[in-house]
Amino acid sequence: MVSILTQLNDHFAQALGGQFPPDVTLPTPLVVPASNPKFGDFQCNIALPLAKQLGQPPRAIAMEIVNKVNLSGICEPLTIAGPGFINLKLLPDYLGEQLIKLQQDQQLGVPLIQVEERVVVDFSSPNIAKEMHVGHLRSTIIGDCLARVLELRGYDVLRLNHVGDWGTQFGMLITYLKEVYPEALVTADALDIGDLVTFYKQAKQRFDQDEQFRETSRQAVVSLQAGDAESIKAWQLLCDQSRREFQLIYDCLDITIEERGESFYNPFLPGVVELLQEKDLLVEDNGAQCVFLDGFTNKDGDRLPLIVQKSDGGYNYATTDLAALNYRLTTDGAQKIIYVTDAGQANHFAQFFQVAQKADILTDPSQVVHVPFGLVKGEDGKKLKTRAGDTIRLKDLLTEAVARARQDLETRLTAEERQETEAFKTEVAQRVGIGAVKYADLSQNRTSDYVFSFDKMLALQGNTAPYMLYAYARIQSISREGGIDFAQMASGEIILTEPTELVLAKSLLQFADVIETVETSLLPNRLCDYLYELSKVFNRFYENCPVLKAKDPQRRSRLLLCDLTARTLKLGLSLLGIPVLDRM
Ligand code: ARG
Repeated sequence: MVSILTQLNDHFAQALGGQFPPDVTLPTPLVVPASNPKFGDFQCNIALPLAKQLGQPPRAIAMEIVNKVNLSGICEPLTIAGPGFINLKLLPDYLGEQLIKLQQDQQLGVPLIQVEERVVVDFSSPNIAKEMHVGHLRSTIIGDCLARVLELRGYDVLRLNHVGDWGTQFGMLITYLKEVYPEALVTADALDIGDLVTFYKQAKQRFDQDEQFRETSRQAVVSLQAGDAESIKAWQLLCDQSRREFQLIYDCLDITIEERGESFYNPFLPGVVELLQEKDLLVEDNGAQCVFLDGFTNKDGDRLPLIVQKSDGGYNYATTDLAALNYRLTTDGAQKIIYVTDAGQANHFAQFFQVAQKADILTDPSQVVHVPFGLVKGEDGKKLKTRAGDTIRLKDLLTEAVARARQDLETRLTAEERQETEAFKTEVAQRVGIGAVKYADLSQNRTSDYVFSFDKMLALQGNTAPYMLYAYARIQSISREGGIDFAQMASGEIILTEPTELVLAKSLLQFADVIETVETSLLPNRLCDYLYELSKVFNRFYENCPVLKAKDPQRRSRLLLCDLTARTLKLGLSLLGIPVLDRM
């Protein structure tokens, strides 16, 4: 099924193709959604720029366009407003027909891509033995949402967790591990190291205080890189511990992701430096191998270097990213790579993208895109902290969200409902709590900072997950009350007479266009805005139009509208990683 906006654009393109002198270019898009509903549903604003090219009055051009485009059966007769804007208003019958098509489409109008394409979404990517912080939470939630949207469109999505599992810090960690658990390296297959962040701090303390320890740590890095069995074992034990902790978060958030950490690309790092050498891009600077960048200068105006190999022979974060990019484009066969990290890494990405292009690793710069996001702040406007001033552990944050959702639920339930089973309450609290955290993040324009507030995200009113989930549950209660199984309902006619019905119908038909916008802008908040609007127009419809009490065929028609709304909410929320609830 083709979206209405696309259909209208196609009609205009067909009618106007070849109608103007060859040196005249038709402005695009030909048709856009109306800026204000009082002008209709869509508008065509090309008469003004066309008039300029043709040297004729715009209203005359608008008249000519109106005469050429035949939209009978789709729109009311076209009208011209002001200097030459053409307004389009859809016919209720046509909307009804389109809704029936939508109802029969599993994808709710979202088209599948025609040619297979692989996209890598590089997201979450915490660092081993370090804290998975709220920045990683944002990356996880946003990256998962973008992956889901691309999957719905039919892309072959490779979800990659580029964990920081390599680097000089492992020398110190391995040395400390050997000190504290000397026997583990010989015997244990797994080891419970406990809180890794504390472990990291203790190791760092030893490192800072003891010269002998520092020397041993340096040797440990060398032997790890050389593949020494004992060092690899220690490294693996450390990674496993972190992995178990990360997995708790992924399970709680229902995230699927494939771990392919920095260490994976280690064997390819010398090759990257060689390639840069071959391309004559390397410059030695204080013993380090660098590529000098265009457009990045220090305060004296000198070009900045991107260091790809340090003077001690070690490689950098950027070197690994160059190797990873090459691997993903060639071996994985990815056509596009999306990196989801905090905005603070914008320079890193711009710089290594530039070097990748200079080295011909990247031939088309549009194949890579950095998706940056802002900071998570506390309600005081400062960095998110616990009351005691400590950094918040993600597990605690998610647990608290669920606990608060549970509290809200207990206060909301009627005496009778309080008899609900424990399993029911646990399920509702879990979905509402986690859904609220995800929704609060995704509903913000990701490029700005956002304030983390349990009270706001759990509110039943406003642009929140509970509001949306509630709208869905409400529709399911209609089906229960009327003894109707939406899934079994044969499609019939959809009759749109009431203004609130028409508004709801138009909103339902916008879903595919919204998904397209999310795909091109990579902004999940566009989908949230849409779902919020849809819930509101549904509620208005439901307040104004009796459903179960109406008479057929109106009753059927309204039930179909209810079902379509529920399906759109369910699919839309699933793209945000939020499963719906039939009752809550
Ligand atoms: N581990 C990095 C961090 O915590 C994020 C990695 C993002 N992905 C990448 N390919 N650089 O900041």
